[in-house]
Order: sequence, then C-alpha cells, then structure tokens
Amino acid sequence: MVASNGSMATQSMAHAVKASSSSALGAIQVEGVGKVYPSRRGAASIVAVKDVSFSVAAGEFVSLVGPSGCGKSTMLMAIAGLTQPSGGRVVIDGQPVTAPRRSVGVMFQTPELFRWRNVLENVLLPVDVFGLNRAAYLERARELLRLAGLGAFEHAYPQELSGGMEQRTALCRVLVADPSIVLMDEPFGALDEFTRERLNIELLRIWDATRKTVVFVTHNIGEAVFLSDRVIVMGTQPGRVLEDVQVPLPRPRTVESMRERPYHETLYHIRDLLGLSH
Ligand SMILES: Nc1ncnc2c1ncn2[C@@H]1O[C@H](COP(=O)(O)OP(=O)(O)O)[C@@H](O)[C@H]1O
Ligand SMILES: [Mg+2]
Repeated sequence: MVASNGSMATQSMAHAVKASSSSALGAIQVEGVGKVYPSRRGAASIVAVKDVSFSVAAGEFVSLVGPSGCGKSTMLMAIAGLTQPSGGRVVIDGQPVTAPRRSVGVMFQTPELFRWRNVLENVLLPVDVFGLNRAAYLERARELLRLAGLGAFEHAYPQELSGGMEQRTALCRVLVADPSIVLMDEPFGALDEFTRERLNIELLRIWDATRKTVVFVTHNIGEAVFLSDRVIVMGTQPGRVLEDVQVPLPRPRTVESMRERPYHETLYHIRDLLGLSH
C-alpha cells in the first residue's frame, strides 16, 4: 500500500517535472575525438584518447566504462565543453561544442555543496549562477527534492546529511535548471556498495521521470550494465573505444534485473573485452 501510494506520488511529480522539460533535445555526436596533453618538463606528451567516435540519442542513458586512465573523464570534459579536443569534434543538437553551455549539466564524484547554504539553497545554486528568477524555479527545486526522497530535508545543511543524501542533493542541483544533457563522472564512486546500489535505483527512477540524455562514467561494469541502454567500452594506451555494447535488459529495471541472464551475459562480455578473467 505504501509502495503503491509512493509510486502514484512519484508519477504525478514526474509529470510535473517532465512538463517543464524541453523534449527531443540532447543528442550528442562524438566525431573522431583525440586529446593530447602537452608534455611537462621534457616528458613525452600524453595521448589521452585517440579517434573516439560514438553517438548518444536524446533521452538515452549511455555509460563509458574502462580502466583508470583510458580517457573517460577527458571525453566527458570534451562533451561538457570544458576541454577542447586536439582533433575531431563533439556536436550537440547539430552545433559543435566550443564552450560550456547551460543545457549540459555536469556532476562529479564529490558533491561540492556549500556548507553555508541549506539543501534547497544548494539545489538553487545554478539558478543564482545563471541569473535566473529564483521564484520561477522554487517549485521545481522542491519537486526534484521530493522525487529524490529529500522532501523533508530542504532546510537541512550539508553537514547534517549522509554521503548518499549529499549526492542526491547534487543530482537535484544538476537537474534544476533543466539541462537536456547530464554528464556524470563516477558520481557514486566514493560511496559504499549499499548506498551506491540504492542511489543507482533512485537515479533510474529520476531519469525515467525527467528523460534527460545521460552520459555516465564509471569503472564499475555491473553498475554500467544495470543503468544503461548502451555501454561504450574503452581501452587504454591510447584511450579508445573497444566496443559499443547494447544492453538488452528491459526497463523499468529493479534489483531483480541483476539476477537476469542478459545482465550477466552483457557483464561477462564486457569483462572479456577488457581482458578480465571470469
Ligand atoms: N590535465 C591533464 N594533463 C596531463 N595529462 C592528463 C590530464 N588529464 C588527464 N591526463 C592523462 O590522460 C589520460 C586519461 O585520463 P582521464 O581522462 O582522467 O582517464 P580516466 O577518467 O578514464 O581515468 C591519463 O593518462 C591521464 O594521466
Ligand atoms: Mg576519471
């Protein structure tokens, strides 16, 4: 009973949150991107990624997976317009990316909340930064907090929150100004396994309600398979795409999805690609 009431509430909130979203925007094309970091003090320059191409459709959830140093963060920064590729280009909704834009939100491993702002004020930070009208976004901020299970915590301060609650606040913050694309760089990597799993389920529920394009970076293969429509598997030296793997798991996904055969088959396929033993 509680669950069904909860899901009804979630649905009506989802409707409200989705209603303000711009639809069908957020398509990403990564075209032959290379990135060379210049040498420091005579050391050889580093080819971080070489000739990386993939695309992400509007509303799709795609993960980048690979060992440390294969260029996942570099690719995310290139999509965000926070770093310029040395070769190739990133195109969003038909326009080459040359600088950060408001329609692309980025979330990192550490929540970086301001300790002197309460939860609601932290969520409203982009609204202030972009010079938008707070009053116009207040209800949306509260809806997102309710959707993230933080409805009762809007007046709490970051130091009163658990790590998981801090990351949920950061997730609301990245969504508040209604970006069409959300880029996440190992957002739950610093959390314990239990919290991470719960947040992944929350994330899918919020994604389902808002239908942003998501590019999610992780080195956790199971997490990537559980969350994604596709997993871009990357290798090192130089950072490159090994395979673009479709995840044939139906949605909505639940913890039970991780018991299903397609989950395990996809997971082991990716492990094989990365040269990991079973
Ligand atoms: N600012 C930088 N200057 C020099 N080298 C860098 C810089 N950022 C990343 N690199 C190098 O580029 C490669 C890819 O890094 P990164 O994109 O952070 O990989 P990942 O996120 O997959 O761990 C690594 O060899 C890393 O050392
Ligand atoms: Mg990284």
